[in-house]
Amino acid sequence: MSAAAPRPRDNQGAPVPRYDGVAKVTGAARFASDFAVAQPAYAYLLLSDVARGRITAIDETAARRVPGVIDIITHRNRPALKPVAHFGKGGPALSSFPPLDGPDIRHAGQIVGLVLADSYEAAREAAHRVVVRTSQSKASATFGSSGLKIESRAEAQQQEDPRKGDAEAAFAAATTGIEAHYSTPIHHHNPIELFTTTASWDGDELTVHEPSQSVHALRAGLAGQLGLPLDKVRIISPYVGGGFGSKVALGHRTALVALAARQLGRPVKLVATREQGFHIAGHRQETRHHVKLGADAAGKFTAFVHDIDELTDRKDGYANGGIEAVACMYGFGSVASTARLVRADRSPPIFMRCPAELPPMFALESAIDELAAKIGIDPVELRRINDTRVNPVTGAPFTSRSLVECYAEAARAFGWSQRDPRPQSMRRGDWLIGYGCATATYPTQVMSATARVTLNPDGGARVEIASHDIGTGAYTVIQQAVAEGLAVPLDRVRVELGDSRLPPGAIAGGSVGTASSVSAIMDACARIAASLGIAGPITAGNRAAAFKASGSGPVEALGEFVPAGGESKSTAGLHQGKVDISGGPKGARAAFAFGAQFVEVHVHARTREIRVPRMTGAFAAGRIMNTRTAHSQLMGGMIWGLGSALHEVTEIDPRTARYTNTDLGEYLIPVNADCVAVDVILVPETDDGNPSGAKGIGELGNCGVAAAIANAVHHATGKRIRDLPITMDKLLA
Ligand code: MOS
Repeated sequence: MSAAAPRPRDNQGAPVPRYDGVAKVTGAARFASDFAVAQPAYAYLLLSDVARGRITAIDETAARRVPGVIDIITHRNRPALKPVAHFGKGGPALSSFPPLDGPDIRHAGQIVGLVLADSYEAAREAAHRVVVRTSQSKASATFGSSGLKIESRAEAQQQEDPRKGDAEAAFAAATTGIEAHYSTPIHHHNPIELFTTTASWDGDELTVHEPSQSVHALRAGLAGQLGLPLDKVRIISPYVGGGFGSKVALGHRTALVALAARQLGRPVKLVATREQGFHIAGHRQETRHHVKLGADAAGKFTAFVHDIDELTDRKDGYANGGIEAVACMYGFGSVASTARLVRADRSPPIFMRCPAELPPMFALESAIDELAAKIGIDPVELRRINDTRVNPVTGAPFTSRSLVECYAEAARAFGWSQRDPRPQSMRRGDWLIGYGCATATYPTQVMSATARVTLNPDGGARVEIASHDIGTGAYTVIQQAVAEGLAVPLDRVRVELGDSRLPPGAIAGGSVGTASSVSAIMDACARIAASLGIAGPITAGNRAAAFKASGSGPVEALGEFVPAGGESKSTAGLHQGKVDISGGPKGARAAFAFGAQFVEVHVHARTREIRVPRMTGAFAAGRIMNTRTAHSQLMGGMIWGLGSALHEVTEIDPRTARYTNTDLGEYLIPVNADCVAVDVILVPETDDGNPSGAKGIGELGNCGVAAAIANAVHHATGKRIRDLPITMDKLLA
């Protein structure tokens, strides 16, 4: 056992190393663009420089003279495509307007053409020589621009904002209250693996290699656009080099590459550049929060008012939301909230790791710290006395909730009792020291899934499921689930994922993967037991005896999982790419994973340089399948949270509505030197919200860190920064 492989506690699985790890670090694992195709043509995207306007002319003369150029596809010659629905309306598409649908330009970085050549270099060279002329209109790109369209989410999406009692009146009557504004910036996912698509046709059958968090939705969307039957399209995506939400939806590039391959009669390969990735695959939109939090003399919350504005595109208006979840965090007494969509001339946003919760939890958990200071109560104690056993809006009980236990374990391990609560009271030499904490949460969600499991008489097994390993350890965790369900050794279980020919499984999004896939696998194992005449769980003994008695060959079963109380009655919709996520604050029971984040910051007394020498997070998330992969996910999440606090921001030039820092030199993320010690504690918890007993952890770890750091920075300096990221200039101002 080591820090990276915590010793399993109650209801926690063995820290099995990822068996695909060696293949990944030796280059044997093939990611989408690594698959060899015969004689490919290379594609290069042409993106719009302007944010709003119309293409008036395209001059391809110089581009077509570049040796090796084959063709240029623009809206003028693009073959027909059918529209598909936006993901916010249950469809697969990042944007409901089809690629290259005409001369209109709706956002900077919109794809306006695809250049095809015999080499990547020729395609790129030619792309730079295409002259796109536009008539430009003034773009409204950011909060405060003129020409924005502001609408309530309740009206735009027929979704009610959570409300309980008269929170405004309760706030006015509160003994102590905090009213403050907070904001979070634009974030881009930036997975290490770029956005790539390779398409090849065999007659009327299309094969696409593209990194995907959702191969069945991608297949359905692409087949829909091309007007093909589902079984004529295959998506292959065995390894995904990170996604975080940016590889869930069908973007504009995929169908264009498929059309080009059909037109050319040869495979076409596209690897979008890092910079292009900032425009074509979504982002986390910027948000603004107005929070009022009131408490009585004992520190019990009496009122919580949280209004959110979020910036979104004009066409589809995706909203992160999040107040439904945030409203479940404590016994607030009364709740009022409003979410508003601010529609601008911007590229379509999409969910990004902990999408709904990260921004509003920064606001709420900062406000709680401010309130604690004003009351003069320890911030851990303030959270403890406001813990709740039910969703305060609906009254629904939680499936399980171990927030207080997480605080207790993390506070002890961190040494919270060493904190002198007075701001600027802890100093070592030139460094001001601050301790801060905040709550982490993520709704526990599941979706329908299927899995085919085969058991051989010799104890070998196979599982086939079109789920995805986006770096999470899904291969290994699924292998563990099958080994356990069939009582066979781990290394006798062969796992096949990431191919739309496999039975549809859960997407790698919404942290639904493990709970949904494992629940389907458990069903398959139970069916295998039944067909072998085994009552109860399979053991090595009864399995061997059953095969011997029956003389049976391999036994195969298709397991199914359909969430109770979800929108689906069967798994049928999965084949059409339906994503039926349920759980979280909705339903007869509220389902959430929780955690407690503690950080120490050092702020330089003169320069205000901020360092984070250590972070401690304790998390409870039901059954932990594998303490090593869980530790890895949660540690990665905490490091991401550190980035959201101090580093990550996509800058936009308000005059041109263009993102300006579109590379990893200028879009800052934490590096090893920024993360000195990151401790993860896995708090035992039992949950019966779904058959697997697991809660998702992929998005839990990065929640709350930004507030913990903001709170620690306040403790160190006496200065409250309410606008992320927290930078030296804001502290010096
Ligand atoms: Mo995650 S943002 O649901 O891929």
